[in-house]
Amino acid sequence: HAHEPIFAIPFSPAGYEKYGAHVTRRRLSQLRHLYGDPVAVDQILAREDPVVYEVYEMPYPYRETDLLINITVLYPGRVGGEPYMTKGHFHAEPDTAEAVIGLEGDGEMLLQRRDGELRKVPVSEGTISYAGGGWAHRVVNTGSRPLVFFAVSGANIVHDYETAERLNFS
Ligand code: F6R
Ligand code: ZN
Repeated sequence: HAHEPIFAIPFSPAGYEKYGAHVTRRRLSQLRHLYGDPVAVDQILAREDPVVYEVYEMPYPYRETDLLINITVLYPGRVGGEPYMTKGHFHAEPDTAEAVIGLEGDGEMLLQRRDGELRKVPVSEGTISYAGGGWAHRVVNTGSRPLVFFAVSGANIVHDYETAERLNFS
């Protein structure tokens, strides 16, 4: 089957980009609802609209049986007292697992179930963190360097951002 991808690329954002990755840049103006201090958000946005994170994804046409293999660069920074973070989402219907491998930097993954139960695991250079199905996940950069991590999950996932936003990782 000509449609089934085969490749070997460098394990880094630059390597992904060299091989044609699609890059999604998330700026603070798109993420303002994540932070508890709207005045701090406005103060930053009055000066600039910083890139908070970038997601690098290989642009092949995914089928259900493929694997999603993204690299995220989550920059260091703060909004009020809160560190930069990803939006966070459930993998819904079917609830599907994800493994996250830290490549550079230091941070944490916040996990929350629909019943509200909340957990936290490290995401740092050299760690592999695993979120089973049913756990919404958000990554937070607690360090002073970019936090770079690789995420792999089944390509059958449906990202549910709305439910995660409502729970908002308490
Ligand atoms: C994929 C996954 C990660 C995130 C990425 C950006 O299922 O969990 O690749 O998509 O770190 O975070 P979100 O998608 O929450 O903006
Ligand atoms: Zn995910």
